[in-house]
Parts: sequence; C-alpha cells; structure tokens
Amino acid sequence: MVCLPACLLSRIVQFPFQAIYIVLNILLMQNFSLHNNSNNAMSLWSKIKGKGTEFRGPQPVGQAIMRNLPTSDMIESCSIAGPGFINVKLSTQWIAKRIQNMLTDGIDTWAPRLSVKRAIVDFSSPNIAKEMHVGHLRSTIIGDTIARMLEYAKVDVLRRNHVGDWGTQFGMLIEFLFEKFPDGEVTDQDIGELELFYKASKQRFDGDDEFKERARKAVVALQSGKEEKYQKAWAQICEISRRGFEKVYERLGVHLEEMGESFYNPYIPLALKELNDKGLIKDDEGAKVIKIIEGKKALPLVAMEKDGRYSYASTDFAALWSLLPEEEVKWIIFVILQSGTEEKYQKAWAQICEINRKGSKIVYQRQGVHLGLIEDDEDAKVIKIIEGNKVPPLIVTKTDGGYNYASTDLAALWYRLNEEKAEWIIYVTDVGQREHFKKIFAAAKSAGWLPADESKYPKTSHVGFGLVLGDDGKRFRTRSTEVVKLVDLLDQAKRRCKEALVERVKVAEWTAEELEQTAEAVGYGAVKYADLKNNRLTNYTFNYDQMLNDKGNTAVYLLYAHARICSIIRKSGKDIEQLKREGQMLLQTDDERKLGLHLLQFAEAVEEACTNLLPNILCEYLYDLSEKFTSFYSECKVVGSAEETSRLLLCEATAVVMRKCFHLLGITPVYKI
Ligand code: ARG
Repeated sequence: MVCLPACLLSRIVQFPFQAIYIVLNILLMQNFSLHNNSNNAMSLWSKIKGKGTEFRGPQPVGQAIMRNLPTSDMIESCSIAGPGFINVKLSTQWIAKRIQNMLTDGIDTWAPRLSVKRAIVDFSSPNIAKEMHVGHLRSTIIGDTIARMLEYAKVDVLRRNHVGDWGTQFGMLIEFLFEKFPDGEVTDQDIGELELFYKASKQRFDGDDEFKERARKAVVALQSGKEEKYQKAWAQICEISRRGFEKVYERLGVHLEEMGESFYNPYIPLALKELNDKGLIKDDEGAKVIKIIEGKKALPLVAMEKDGRYSYASTDFAALWSLLPEEEVKWIIFVILQSGTEEKYQKAWAQICEINRKGSKIVYQRQGVHLGLIEDDEDAKVIKIIEGNKVPPLIVTKTDGGYNYASTDLAALWYRLNEEKAEWIIYVTDVGQREHFKKIFAAAKSAGWLPADESKYPKTSHVGFGLVLGDDGKRFRTRSTEVVKLVDLLDQAKRRCKEALVERVKVAEWTAEELEQTAEAVGYGAVKYADLKNNRLTNYTFNYDQMLNDKGNTAVYLLYAHARICSIIRKSGKDIEQLKREGQMLLQTDDERKLGLHLLQFAEAVEEACTNLLPNILCEYLYDLSEKFTSFYSECKVVGSAEETSRLLLCEATAVVMRKCFHLLGITPVYKI
C-alpha cells in the first residue's frame, strides 16, 4: 500500500491528474512510505471544497484519482474504502524484484539520500584527568550511531572528540605534579590512576590558599604558552588520560578524532571580536556576557502611522529620550495617558535602552524617534516588542579575563562553520547541557552565523540524553567507587555473556577464539543496544540481567536471531551466491509478503532515525524485522520445501538488512550460535 507524499499534494491540487503520474514515478524511485492506505482524496477534497469543483465529496475525488492512476508494475490493485481512502496494493512481484535487486547490487543501494554534504558529530568528549563516566559512555554510543547513519547516507562526517583539556583544573594538576615530582621526570606509573591523582590535587587545592594561588598562576603560565615546563606537564597529563579513553573506544569499536577545547583556544579572541563588533557582547559586573532574548514577538507598538505622522507613542519616546541622561538611568517613570499601554511602553523602552547600549545608531529627532529597531509593517513604522522570559546571560569572558566553556564553544562553532564548512553540527551530551547549547545557538543566530530559519542550513542540533540509573532508581554507581569504570562495566558484560554461552552451546564445536569473539560481540552489543533502544531523552536503568536476556527486545535475542538465519542458509547446503544470480523470489504467503514489505521500509527507517537523530527508531525497525521473520519462519517451511530457493533468498535478504542495522548501531553480528 502506498501513501502519496504530502509535499506533492499542492501539485496535485493544481494539476489534479497529470501529477499523479509524476508522483508514482517518484514513489518508484524513492521508495516512499509504504502505509496501509492513502488518505489523499480526503485532504485533496478539503482543499478544493467550495472552490467551484465538479466533485461532490472525497469519494468521487478518490475514484477519479484511482481511474487516472497510470499503469505501473508497482501497483497490483486499487480500491476505495470508507469516506475516500484509496487503498493501493503494491504488486508482490514488484516488492520481490526490489529485494532481489538489493541482493545483487548491495544494501548500499538502499541508503537514504540527505541533502547535507558535511556534518560534524561532537560526541563522547570526556574531561581530561576526570573520570569518563556512564554519561560519556551514552554520548559515545549514541554519537557513534548517529555518525554511522549519516555516513551510510553518504554525508562526509567529522567525528569530533571535544575533550575538556583546557579548564582551570590544569593549574591545580600541574602544580601538584611539580610538588610531587620536583625534578620533572614523571612516568605513567608515578601518576597511577589519574582520577586519584585528580582527587588528591583537588584536596590540596581546597585546603591551602597558597597552593590555590600557585595553581591560578600555573593556569596563566600554561595558557600564555610561554613556559615550556607547563606545556610539557599539561601534555603529559593529557596523554595519560588519552590512553585511558582509548581503551574504552577500542573495546567499543568507536573511532573519534580528538580536537579538544585547547584546539579552539587561539580562535576565541577572533570569534568574540566578531560577536563584539555586532554589538552582542556587554559588560556585566566585570564579566563579558551575551544577553539571550528568548520568546515570541508580541504585537508591535506603532511608531509612525501609515500616513507618515508620528504616533502618540513616538512623541512620548521623543520626550523620554531627551530626558534620558546616560546609561545610568535606573528608573523611568511612565506617565501614561492612555490606559492599557503601560506594559508595552515599558518593554519597548527596555529594548530601546538595550539597543542603545549595544552601540546601535539611534537618531533622535525632535518630532519623534528614529530608532535602530523600527521596522516597516504594512506601511506603518513599528517597534516589535519581544516578549519573553529573561534568561541568564551567556558568560563569555570571566571577571578575571579568562575564557570558559562557552567561549570555547563559540570559537569551536565559528571554526566549524568557517574553516570546516560544516552544514550540520550535532552535539551529543546529557540533557543537562541543553540550556548551554540553546544559548550558544541563539548567540550564533543573533550574529548571523546561523540562519534564523531552523529548517535552513547550516544548522546545529543538540542531541540530549537522559541519565543511566541503577536498580535503586538513582544515578548508576558501583559500590566501591563513586562512578562506574567503563572498562570494568564492559568486561563484566562480556564475562557474563561468556558464561551463558558456555552453558548454551556445545563447547567442543567452538574454538577458544570463537567463544571469546562471540562473547565480546554479544556483551558489548548488549550494552550498546540497551542504551540505544530507548528514546534517548528518557533515563534508563542499567541492568545486566535485562540486557543479557536472550528473549525480548535485546541485542542477545537479535544477534541470535541473525545467527539462526545464517545457520538455516548454511544447513540448506545451497550456494547462496548462485541463488542470487539464478533464483527467483516469489513471496506467496501472507507472512512472506509482510516480511518483504518490511524489508523495503528499511531506508525509510534509517532516514527517519537520522533526520530526527533518534537511533531508537532503527532499533524498533530491527526488532520488528526479527518478529516478522519469526512469524514467517514458523509458518513457512524453508529447507526442503518446493519454495526453497525463494525462501532462502528471503532469509538472505533479512540477514543482510539485519547486518546493516547492526552495523549502523555499532554492533558486531554473530554468525554461529
Ligand atoms: N566535556 C564536556 C562534558 O564532559 C562535553 C563536551 C561537549 N561538547 C561541546 N562542544 N561542548 O560535559
């Protein structure tokens, strides 16, 4: 069944029937949504109703569409149901043909096409010397999947690890290092566990003001880049951390390119200058900030009437303007002559003062005001009032003149847009950073770095995710340490998998290496899938028993399902490559057809998951696929049946699509169980 895409509806309205042919051609080419029915007759009817149409309701519209559908090998039959649903039944042969084509030409021919050429995925991004916690694990898993999906859609993806390697914590760490190892020669073993080293130095920092002062100076020395010994100590600490992170990435099979905060440091002055030149940066008690205005536009205040006369409001402003000494004005008492205008006046005035401080040109004329913020509105001149919540400003330079997380992100955004020419920049962090990114994006929009219209490129997206909880419903931690060591967590998943595997299989038929690799694929896959299958915004509970269950919606179940399909094909003793060349797929039963249709929806699922940045959509698709396969397999005999060739091809196509899903989710498939 097909549903005509909504974007083409307007064309259909204009050229009712000629367009259908085009639509169908597009459907054929693009593998459009395959729903149960098309309700276009109804939406068409609502558009043409009462506009002198010859039609007398949605049903006749539907019938007319149906009569005019061009013959196509895609369509088996059409019917009208209810008030005007057009049921279009896709031809079984057509479905089978498309699947066979995929088998010969490869699954890449089903990749969605996106209009973005280059994207940056900023993910994982742990902080040097601090622990890489489960939040970073979520970011790593989700970010990797998003990157994989975009890569599959032929987008050039820059995978960026925005590690926190430039914070003020380095002053403390470096000073502590100097104190413990005055001769400067330090090895990894000396530092031992970097997190413990961090804790010890923090204790020292908190307990001694003199040390604190030295640490502060060390930051300045490091950031000035002039003293080599500071640079060296910094590089050493970063390197030790990096090796720890690498172990996690290696296990997860995640590739990332480190471009930490320090990389963008030289670009901060440049980016801030641009923002300052645009009047966006203000002094705020010694700090430099960007004020973020959030909210909807209220009704405008008329400053000049349509006939050019200055309005009542404009004269008031003129009077006020002349009274306004300088910025120090704290109070403006409005003498309101017309009731009901107070609020508007105050808001407009607040905005005018704001703009004035920004340094925009405001010309005062005796008769009225010509302000930078006056706009044309249907011949009248108006001041648009922005009504909204006051958001705390974005601090871009601290009172001590130092830069911070936000200034680094502004510089990074500048660099990514201007130097790397990224069209889509995706940030994967916990939802707790949503406000931070909202402000960064708002500032970039005010500066004109990003278009105001969010449907246009370049664009930025914050991919937030919820917490990982323990069984007690609290933030996930282990008993011994405050946080969970990621490597231990992955090791444990693998160990448990291996135990289950040894119980399950005939160990004699497995080599030690096979056991090891399977336990790893299933164990790590389970951790990843448990994370990805939920809508990322929700918190989820980390539970080994649940994620390692071989029933239900788990990676274990799905990986075993895939292995079973592979074993069906193996046991048939047939050469699948030869079947692909010579065999024919038929899809005779209802279950075969349903499975076939679901296979065709793969590209759509990937596209939806990657445009909405929601990997759980792909997980749902995959789970559904294995369910549909199970129904098919329990109803249809494969090996030894009269339809063996066709059904083996269907098994192979299911396995190919499942493998691609695993690949996109960063899970290694297993072939034997
Ligand atoms: N290092 C940060 C943290 O651990 C995440 C960085 C995310 N990326 C960025 N461009 N701010 O919370």
